[in-house]
Amino acid sequence: MKFSMFGERFINNTGIKDLVDDLGKYAGIEGTCMLGGGNPALIPEVNEIWRRRMHEILNEGNRFERMLGLYGTSIGSLKFFDALAEMLHEEYGWPVTGKNIAVISGSQTSCFLLYNMLSGELTDGSRGKILLPLMPEYIGYADQTIDPDSFVSCRPEINQYAPNMFKYQVDFDRIDMKNVNAITASRPTNPTGNVLTDGEIARLCTLAEEHEIPLVLDNAYGLPFPGIIFEDVKPVWNENVILSMSLSKIGLPATRTGIVVASEKIIEALSAVSAVASLAPSGVGQDIVQPMLTDGSLLDISRNIVMPYYRKKSLQTIDYIKSSFGDLDYSIHKSEGAIFLWIWFKNLESGSLDLYERLKKRGVIIVPGEYFFFGLPDEDKDWKHRHQCIRVNYSRDFSEVKRGLDVIAEEAAKG
Ligand SMILES: Cc1ncc(COP(=O)(O)O)c(C=O)c1O
Repeated sequence: MKFSMFGERFINNTGIKDLVDDLGKYAGIEGTCMLGGGNPALIPEVNEIWRRRMHEILNEGNRFERMLGLYGTSIGSLKFFDALAEMLHEEYGWPVTGKNIAVISGSQTSCFLLYNMLSGELTDGSRGKILLPLMPEYIGYADQTIDPDSFVSCRPEINQYAPNMFKYQVDFDRIDMKNVNAITASRPTNPTGNVLTDGEIARLCTLAEEHEIPLVLDNAYGLPFPGIIFEDVKPVWNENVILSMSLSKIGLPATRTGIVVASEKIIEALSAVSAVASLAPSGVGQDIVQPMLTDGSLLDISRNIVMPYYRKKSLQTIDYIKSSFGDLDYSIHKSEGAIFLWIWFKNLESGSLDLYERLKKRGVIIVPGEYFFFGLPDEDKDWKHRHQCIRVNYSRDFSEVKRGLDVIAEEAAKG
């Protein structure tokens, strides 16, 4: 049997596959500090609400049977679209209706479909690229395009704004729009916790409009839900923005509910592609949250439980790093959202992959930073910074995070 080039690409992608395998392998081992994965925390108050919603669904006529026993449309349930559109309109004044919304089986799949609809061979025969204006970016995009090498990206400016603290900023001078057919970014960003400023977003919106291409904003951690964002910034949508949202980080990752808010033209195209790729998404997440969109409780949870939960953990973890990393020459990316801290070890000569292996031997799992820098021009291959960073998920129990950080400090000190 021969695999296609498409199949081969994933099979040979051993780096990321090894990371994922490690996450599975070490998850069950007692004493391991699992600071690597992207799982949101199991927050007891939030879990209580999901449990209550399931009871309500079970007790509401044949709602449960319909939820499990019927397909929705290829992009979800009309009632859900209307409830979400109304909420977005009320909260932000966006002119969205149900026709601007699609549900896809997880936002990972939304991105896969969108990036492939917008890159590769275009209808005029040219090759379209996707621009990532600020590296590092979400590892999960790296191999999503069927046409290889479709991502082009830019090295950021590094603003060392306080001792041991820095923030990446888009370096607009580095942006080259040649062949770019869409611009994309996660906001907040996985892995760094960066939140593109309102000013940066405005400039990216203008750039996209000038080139008549869409701006795809991955809002998996953003507003209005799960709302894991610690900065006072505005969420943005207009007809030229494709907003990818998700129910995963508010605590429902297993329902695989990705949501796209976009122009009717994009939604119609997604609906056609989704029908072929997956027939229909799961309705479970939609059914759980639909009344919570209408009565405002999804927003309440985001603002009053989920966001404060992560903000507290982030602050606690940064305080711990500051008090325990001693003389190490390190810098933490400003924690503006998402569920990770991004740590830069300025004297890490061995590289973050080597550090990852050493930490693994000592029972601490993180994600090495190199994988998050992709699509960069050849001139940035020797850019040391891309080998000196790691991503730490701080959403685990604090004692586990602390233990892990102590080991990280010891190993990073070896260079
Ligand atoms: C930035 C970002 N986008 C998208 C996803 C995919 O999430 P899901 O497919 O669970 O909606 C993740 C998951 O970690 C993520 O971090």
